[in-house]
Amino acid sequence: MAKNNQPNADDKVILGPTGRPYRGFPTPPTLDRHGPARIIALCNQKGGVGKTTTSINLAASLAEYGRKVLAIDFDPQGALSAGLGVPTHDIPTIYDLMLDTKRDPKDAIVETHVEGLDIIPANIDLSAAEVHLVNEVAREMILARVLRKVVNDYDVVLIDCQPSLGLLTVNALTAAHGVLVPLECEFFALRGVALLIETIEKVQDRLNPSLELDGLLATMYDSRTLHSREVLDRIVETFDDKVFETVIGRTVKFPDSSVSGVPIIEYAPQHPAAQAYLRLARELVDRGAVA
Ligand SMILES: Nc1ncnc2c1ncn2[C@@H]1O[C@H](COP(=O)(O)OP(=O)(O)OP(=O)(O)O)[C@@H](O)[C@H]1O
Ligand SMILES: [Mg+2]
Repeated sequence: MAKNNQPNADDKVILGPTGRPYRGFPTPPTLDRHGPARIIALCNQKGGVGKTTTSINLAASLAEYGRKVLAIDFDPQGALSAGLGVPTHDIPTIYDLMLDTKRDPKDAIVETHVEGLDIIPANIDLSAAEVHLVNEVAREMILARVLRKVVNDYDVVLIDCQPSLGLLTVNALTAAHGVLVPLECEFFALRGVALLIETIEKVQDRLNPSLELDGLLATMYDSRTLHSREVLDRIVETFDDKVFETVIGRTVKFPDSSVSGVPIIEYAPQHPAAQAYLRLARELVDRGAVA
């Protein structure tokens, strides 16, 4: 292999699961200063597709490469907070910051045990947000106003959305520079994606013209099943190079590591799934989606 893992002409070309030549992506260069952050919303209204798992592990992987990362738990279930071992009760959360936008976001930022990774937690209180905020002026822009005060302190902000296309998700899309869509390699993966893309386009049109679709991430891929391979082929056929070359395999290590409250790159650093999230982090930097 030559530099950057690009095959030489006389090397046999190894194809990755998306059908493109396999690339490892170079180690991201060290940053000598931090911020302003690029904000990425992880979004899919379908439940259980790997949004939270990707938020946790991508955040930890980017932090591993020296990026300053802020993860926003934007789901009343609080799974991101729990997955990073952060308590969610009797502490300020993202909901408190949204209710009182004059409040200093630093009140709610919690350092995780992963160096370089901070989080703003959420809990069930956030489920009241849709009702509480509905009469607010510019109610779609509340999260953007909150995040404006912290972007200079981070290189990347990841927002873990809840599985819905309601007001909270619209707030996330309005605050974001980019959207990352995790898709489970299962039969119904593409159902609902058209509606998601339509929502993204509406937000681009009315609220946030610079919003970009950063890419679709295939998750829970099982290379041993024809079914998984067929679904991935369909995803690539439909979205072409918007599909990340990195694909996340299916493994029980994810539920195991979430229960322990640590990212997989700490729980099982040598596991292929840990390596896959590190590679996704490198791919995002390579694509220019993260500094
Ligand atoms: N690659 C994977 N292999 C196996 N299990 C996985 C993988 N990724 C996630 N899981 C598991 O699948 C379940 C759903 O994942 P996750 O919570 O990340 O999805 P989500 O999209 O955030 O769900 P929700 O829509 O409910 O917020 C979890 O139990 C998680 O541990
Ligand atoms: Mg989730």
